[in-house]
Amino acid sequence: MVIADTPLSDMLRLLADPTRLRILALLEREELSVGELTKAVGMAQSRVSNHLRILREAEILAERHVGASTYLRLDGRCLEHTPLQRLWLALRGELAGLAEHSADLVRLESVLAERRTRNGDFFDRVAGQWEKIAGQFESGQARLRAVSHLLPAGLVLADLGCGTGYMGEALLGLCDRLICVDRSEKMLEEAQRRLCRAPRQTEVEFRKGELNSLPIADGAADGALAGMVLHHLQEPGTAVAEMFRILRPGGAAAVLELDPHREAWMRAGLGDRHLGLEASDVLAAFRRSGFGDVALDPLADRFQPTRPDGSVASLSLYIVRGRRPRALSIEPTHRS
Ligand SMILES: C[S@@+](CC[C@H](N)C(=O)[O-])C[C@H]1O[C@@H](n2cnc3c(N)ncnc32)[C@H](O)[C@@H]1O
Repeated sequence: MVIADTPLSDMLRLLADPTRLRILALLEREELSVGELTKAVGMAQSRVSNHLRILREAEILAERHVGASTYLRLDGRCLEHTPLQRLWLALRGELAGLAEHSADLVRLESVLAERRTRNGDFFDRVAGQWEKIAGQFESGQARLRAVSHLLPAGLVLADLGCGTGYMGEALLGLCDRLICVDRSEKMLEEAQRRLCRAPRQTEVEFRKGELNSLPIADGAADGALAGMVLHHLQEPGTAVAEMFRILRPGGAAAVLELDPHREAWMRAGLGDRHLGLEASDVLAAFRRSGFGDVALDPLADRFQPTRPDGSVASLSLYIVRGRRPRALSIEPTHRS
């Protein structure tokens, strides 16, 4: 029967039976197999089947077949904007006061708990394959965008000695503005190529300049990063002082560096001026510059460049971080 054309008397007859109402209420809440529904209403299957036959004839149930089981639910779309829907909504409200309905809901919970035990938790079963099943997004920006809302608005970050933009790439989407600085025009071009598809909320700027006199105004950045670059500099301490200068009070700085090593080929091979830097020297430079919360973060990761003879070096790394102290706030004195 097409619900919209069904005579009112038939609709009233359909809803006239309290057991049918209880069944409908359960199937509106949950999709259930016939066996599960029988358990939830606590009746013989023959009685439940009888009611289901009438509801099926009214074409208000959606059915799904899985193996030998048929799963049923109340198909809300069939009822939409029909007098039957209005009748059902009025009667459903009355069901709340019915002791049988409350007992149905208690039984329904144990039916669903049994189902969970039988099948195991859905996500427990698929966890190992989840990345393959549902890990695909067109650009991945949706997740990054959600993450960015946890960070302060208007964030300006600086990637100093950005090279090809490897570290800058990790910051895209997380800040409003990313300022990439490097002395090499060609490296900046490579970085531009890598970062050209920045998500809309991150404006990326490329500035040619020296780390010991950064082309960034005082207090203009919320965060400054110098990754694998201080060992290229004659005076690493001057660059740390420059990092301090460009940060606003409360802004954070991080330096990723190599521990001292003996890979002398890296001078000519990778343009290194120092064969790593003592962490204690970098920590001291941070403190001298005025940074607070200065700390060493040792890393398990290692830098593994290939030597000219084809063998691979394995060099230890560390991070030194600090924060530009906030300006002292002077509490107003209360006069009585
Ligand atoms: C080893 S790359 C590091 C790139 C990037 N930060 C990373 O972690 O992959 C070093 C970069 O620092 C730049 N650089 C070296 N000395 C510099 C200086 N005095 N001022 C600005 N940039 C410098 C180089 O041009 C090069 O692109």
